[in-house]
Amino acid sequence: MSDKKLIFSGIQPTGTFTLGNYIGAIRNWAPLQEEYNCIYSIVDMHAITVRQDPVKLRQNSLEAYALIMACGIDPEKSIAFIQSHVKTHAELNWILACSTQFGELSRMTQFKDKSAKHADDVNAGLFTYPVLMAADILAYNADLVPVGVDQKQHLELARNIAQRFNQKYGDFFTVPEPYIPKVGAKVMSLQEPTKKMSKSDDNPNACILILDDKDTIIRKFKRAVTDSDMEICYREGKDGINNLMTIYSAVTSKNYEEIEKEFAGKGYGDFKIAVGEAVADHLQPVRDNFTRLINDKAYLKECYTKGAEKALRISQKTVSKVYRKVGFVDAR
Ligand code: TYM
Repeated sequence: MSDKKLIFSGIQPTGTFTLGNYIGAIRNWAPLQEEYNCIYSIVDMHAITVRQDPVKLRQNSLEAYALIMACGIDPEKSIAFIQSHVKTHAELNWILACSTQFGELSRMTQFKDKSAKHADDVNAGLFTYPVLMAADILAYNADLVPVGVDQKQHLELARNIAQRFNQKYGDFFTVPEPYIPKVGAKVMSLQEPTKKMSKSDDNPNACILILDDKDTIIRKFKRAVTDSDMEICYREGKDGINNLMTIYSAVTSKNYEEIEKEFAGKGYGDFKIAVGEAVADHLQPVRDNFTRLINDKAYLKECYTKGAEKALRISQKTVSKVYRKVGFVDAR
């Protein structure tokens, strides 16, 4: 790897990605490949912190891998792999767990939300989830981590874990910085625009999936909840319109002022259709690429196998050094 700064990010294979995943995270991954050394992972070990159907999980992981490639991740430029293929993540997870406090894990809002939602399965993996995330990042000494706003708290914890380890054992880990986009770091639900857009939403109209066809996308936008006002402008209290403006801005690169001008005097109905069309057109190449890639299983396998080999080579070095630092006897 060259001297460029290192990026690490991951996404859970829990079904087709949402427009939130896309705008808040993945669409920023491809351009970063030109400037940084990038490592991207399909984090299947994180996914099993909530109950998964094994057959579906396997299929979702392959689809997720094909999807990140469909969004422009080039396995020749970046290292792209499936988390469970690289055993060092689990190994480092244990060491880091011993530098993480019960109290700080208890404060994680995602744990509170998910344990309320899955009250019948509040397992230890769900609780220690952010430690594995820290292991993902620290195994490569990543400098930057591109994520949406909802992952900021986990990243703060990863930084604290790195700093604590460095204090205990001497400077070793790079303390990672979050890399959060200016527009679209939190895309909201189309049905309840004060809540983040999420694939686990019970209402299918709340969430755009990036493989939805054009008609479905437009239909969901037409049903988007707005307000009783008539003006298309970005203003506090206009959560629904603000969200649509953010989405439109993210896919057209127009700023809010330009959007306000474009739709001055027009109604919400016209605006919703325009947003739907812009999103569907923007996502069309992703859908086309995905269809091609998912039908070439041999190529996908070649890519994720090579990706895992490269990831293991790098992270193995980190873990060996960590083992020595904490006082484990050399295995060789
Ligand atoms: P996950 O799989 O929930 O989401 C993947 C990425 O999508 C972003 N995102 C959003 N951004 C804007 N608006 C939304 N509505 C929205 N919903 C999701 C997330 O912020 C994330 O960047 N714990 C992580 C996966 C992970 C990871 C890592 C990330 C595991 N290890 C190491 C970075 C580094 C997660 O569950 O993301």
